[in-house]
Amino acid sequence: MHLSWLSSAFLLFTAAASCASPTANTPTQVNVRIEGAQKTIFEGNVLTTGHNVTTPSGGNHKCDGTNGAAHTSPGPTPLSALDDAAKQNGFSFDGLFVSGFDDFIIGTIAGESSDNIADIWISGLNFFSQGIFETCKTELNAGDKVLFALVSVGVQGSILQLIGPTTARVNQPVTFTVVGSVSLFPIQGATVNGVTTDANGHATLTFTQTGLNSAKADKPGSVRSNRVDIQVTD
Ligand SMILES: *[C@@H]1O[C@H](CO)[C@@H](O)[C@H](O)[C@H]1NC(C)=O
Repeated sequence: MHLSWLSSAFLLFTAAASCASPTANTPTQVNVRIEGAQKTIFEGNVLTTGHNVTTPSGGNHKCDGTNGAAHTSPGPTPLSALDDAAKQNGFSFDGLFVSGFDDFIIGTIAGESSDNIADIWISGLNFFSQGIFETCKTELNAGDKVLFALVSVGVQGSILQLIGPTTARVNQPVTFTVVGSVSLFPIQGATVNGVTTDANGHATLTFTQTGLNSAKADKPGSVRSNRVDIQVTD
């Protein structure tokens, strides 16, 4: 483990262990999104319960919210959700286990690796970035949005959130809004399907094909957004 990477990791260690009321450890539907360096690796809903996670480099350890005595009763966690997404969708991941923190650190997802110096895998929950050793300590609620993103160290960009309609008429313009994670401040200069957002974070798109379309926002130095699916009708 590289020292420079660990110090970067500690800089990202922002959130304390969640103190939310205990979640029942029953199958819980959450959204899991994995943003690689150049593309979205996975984005979809998964059912997850807190359970032991095994990685090639880290071994077999509990990952159910009771790690580090963060919670008294087990529940689903971000890494249990990643593990279930991986098993259900046929991709792999790897991470070290750090005993002192009783938690894993992600090194690789679907073949995309942190180089431990210039880029690292961060995790996020509901568009907020999470501390580095929280993936087995945070307990999830139904509908939570779990994010893993490979980001460059030192880039302080937002986790982009795309807000927009889920229906549209063909050839009728519709407006999407891009906001930044923490402040929900509008993000100018992001692109939504190639259209650049203005000072209000707005991008106006016109869909020329009926059926299911989708939109996603991206901006250099930020974590690309969630996908919005739009049903386009005549
Ligand atoms: C789960 O991991 C813990 C260590 O965190 C270990 O003691 C236990 O045996 C594991 N359970 C299973 C079913 O593998």
